Amino acid sequence: MTSTFASPPGGAPSPAAAPPAVVADRVSKVYGSGDAAVHALRGVSVGFAQGAFTAIMGPSGSGKSTLMHCLAGLDTVSEGAVRLGDAEITGMSDKQLTLLRRDRVGFVFQAFNLLPTLTAEQNILLPLQLSGRKADRAWFDQVVDVVGLRDRLSHRPNELSGGQQQRVACARALVARPQVIFADEPTGNLDSRAGAEVLGFLRASVREMGQTIVMVTHDPVAASYADRVVFLRDGVVVNELLQPTPDTVLDRLKSLGG
Ligand SMILES: Nc1ncnc2c1ncn2[C@@H]1O[C@H](COP(=O)(O)OP(=O)(O)OP(=O)(O)O)[C@@H](O)[C@H]1O
Ligand SMILES: [Mg+2]
Repeated sequence: MTSTFASPPGGAPSPAAAPPAVVADRVSKVYGSGDAAVHALRGVSVGFAQGAFTAIMGPSGSGKSTLMHCLAGLDTVSEGAVRLGDAEITGMSDKQLTLLRRDRVGFVFQAFNLLPTLTAEQNILLPLQLSGRKADRAWFDQVVDVVGLRDRLSHRPNELSGGQQQRVACARALVARPQVIFADEPTGNLDSRAGAEVLGFLRASVREMGQTIVMVTHDPVAASYADRVVFLRDGVVVNELLQPTPDTVLDRLKSLGG
């Protein structure tokens, strides 16, 4: 597996002592039933520390997106439990889950999912407006400066580069101060330079703003921006790595056969 992303400079100590922001407790997920059943997760227990940047890696089909969707309340578990902060989300009604996702969770996907008719600023503020909350202007300004979008706020998505669009999506996730941001292949559609920008920003939001981020990626260099990498194979957590570098991640992936 190769990567063209620039390596991150240095690395801060991992805040491993912080209590978990989100926990999966013996989570299993089965899609379908009978002969057609797919066991996407088979008893996953893992916690994600507050204020830490964690990457989830593993071969295609190993359950990375499924785990993320279960952690974020986008999908229900078949067995086990998920806790987000003090909330036990297993067994919540659809309405409760909708509110939880709206108020406590941020998402960044491979496709940027911006609204084309809104400016960058309007896109960033949309989730707060939808939840009837007021934007904290000072916080908005800080987020905009960290993502480096100050001079692009009045642009519409089609007037922005891919990297800039993804930074808008990151700012949109961050501005609502969610307990956790879940990112599934956030750099999957970006070239190496734009990818490095977005990863640098995600890491800065963890370091400078205390944000908690869980990111799925295939890229060892992208994973090396994280404090910790959790490896999945066949729906099970098989390994983890603290303070990863591109080389140590690659070695670990090779030893997993991924
Ligand atoms: N909605 C679904 N219905 C049936 N099977 C599913 C569904 N979603 C995922 N699966 C299956 O569950 C397994 C895990 O899928 P998942 O999307 O979590 O993998 P992944 O690790 O994210 O892979 P990739 O790296 O390709 O994105 C796969 O075998 C997949 O085919
Ligand atoms: Mg996936």
